[in-house]
Amino acid sequence: MTVERDYEPSPFSPGYGRRPLVFGGHETDLAELTDVFETLDFGESQSVLVSGLRGSGKTSLLSVLQDAARNRGWLVISDDASAGLMDRVMETAIPSLLQQLDQGTRARLTGLGIWQLNAQWEYVDRHREVRPLLRRDLVALSDVLAEHHPPAGVLITIDEVSSGKVRLRELSRFALEISHAIAEGANVMVVFAGIRLDLEALVEQEHTTFLRRSRELDFRRLSPPETRHVLAETIRIGGKRVDDDALALLVSISQGYPYLVQLAGDFAWRSSGSGPSITLADARAAQSRAITAVERRVISRVYQDLSEKDREFVAAMALDESRTKIADIVERMGVSDQYVQVYKKRLIESGYVQSDGRGYVTFSLPYLGDYIRSMNSESGPDAGRDDWQQYPPPKS
Ligand SMILES: Nc1ncnc2c1ncn2[C@@H]1O[C@H](COP(=O)(O)OP(=O)(O)O)[C@@H](O)[C@H]1O
Ligand SMILES: [Mg+2]
Repeated sequence: MTVERDYEPSPFSPGYGRRPLVFGGHETDLAELTDVFETLDFGESQSVLVSGLRGSGKTSLLSVLQDAARNRGWLVISDDASAGLMDRVMETAIPSLLQQLDQGTRARLTGLGIWQLNAQWEYVDRHREVRPLLRRDLVALSDVLAEHHPPAGVLITIDEVSSGKVRLRELSRFALEISHAIAEGANVMVVFAGIRLDLEALVEQEHTTFLRRSRELDFRRLSPPETRHVLAETIRIGGKRVDDDALALLVSISQGYPYLVQLAGDFAWRSSGSGPSITLADARAAQSRAITAVERRVISRVYQDLSEKDREFVAAMALDESRTKIADIVERMGVSDQYVQVYKKRLIESGYVQSDGRGYVTFSLPYLGDYIRSMNSESGPDAGRDDWQQYPPPKS
């Protein structure tokens, strides 16, 4: 049975790790990084740190890079920084990369004695006489890829870096292997992505000092023209038109926050149903739904990433509808001026807060202030939405 559809499916992709149809902004960084896949001239891009709040597009960037690398014949190792990273890479990722290489190359790699392949040149096991080390694998892979036409390398992307102690120890061991491979001249680009404070914790580890020389990408919001471009292009490719006033409203609802751009576009698209264009009424219909959804799916998680003290700071800010005077935060928190400065700096660096004129701060994440206000009001943000009170337990 076929289902008749009289409307086009939404071309928007709201959801973590869902690569957007149109990836907005970051052109220079992307161009310079993908150039490396062609030239193997790494410059400052041998290691890359991508920081940003949840929903700012880190995972999407990684997948754009992975595709660009594969298109140039590079091998790609991608993982998230969860427990067992090294084993997964050594026992699963690299063996499966070997299968992608042609037989002659595989045969040469076996000759190096690092891997044992069977008569069909399939990976069997590690050669037990040599202790398997990631650095050796990377150097060997890089050597054979360097002889390809065109020459290629290995891209390693590690997403979801987190600063838990055990994780950090494992990550730092992993990073150490990579730094050795790089020191031996391997054509390896490694990209770590996570929230800023977690990446900072990673760089402070004993064996990760080489990461201080990384290229740093800090994802904030897209500019208004970039936001406009993402919305308009996605709609165009999806097969509809969008009215100017509708587009302007969608830009202002989403405030350039990538996840919210996708949500606003998606709701507006759905509201337009089988119509050929997205109108102002559709954009208006999208507004409250998109904001509710971003609070639930993004802002609440962004808030959970904050420490207890950070939360006190943002709660003190949220008492004001717009910007907040630093002096008022000092007073509201009942702590010293210096103390407040330390937290202010942290929150600004990690992208939650920004300066707004001398002595003032404001939220840089759209709707975070509203979210905190609603949470600190008696009923909480979910009051009325997920209302268990409507279902009182039966009296026994
Ligand atoms: N540059 C971008 N332009 C348009 N949409 C984007 C961009 N980056 C991410 N998105 C969208 O934002 C949402 C969150 O992206 P994701 O990469 O998962 O963010 P993060 O990994 O930082 O949490 C997804 O819906 C994705 O499609
Ligand atoms: Mg992500």
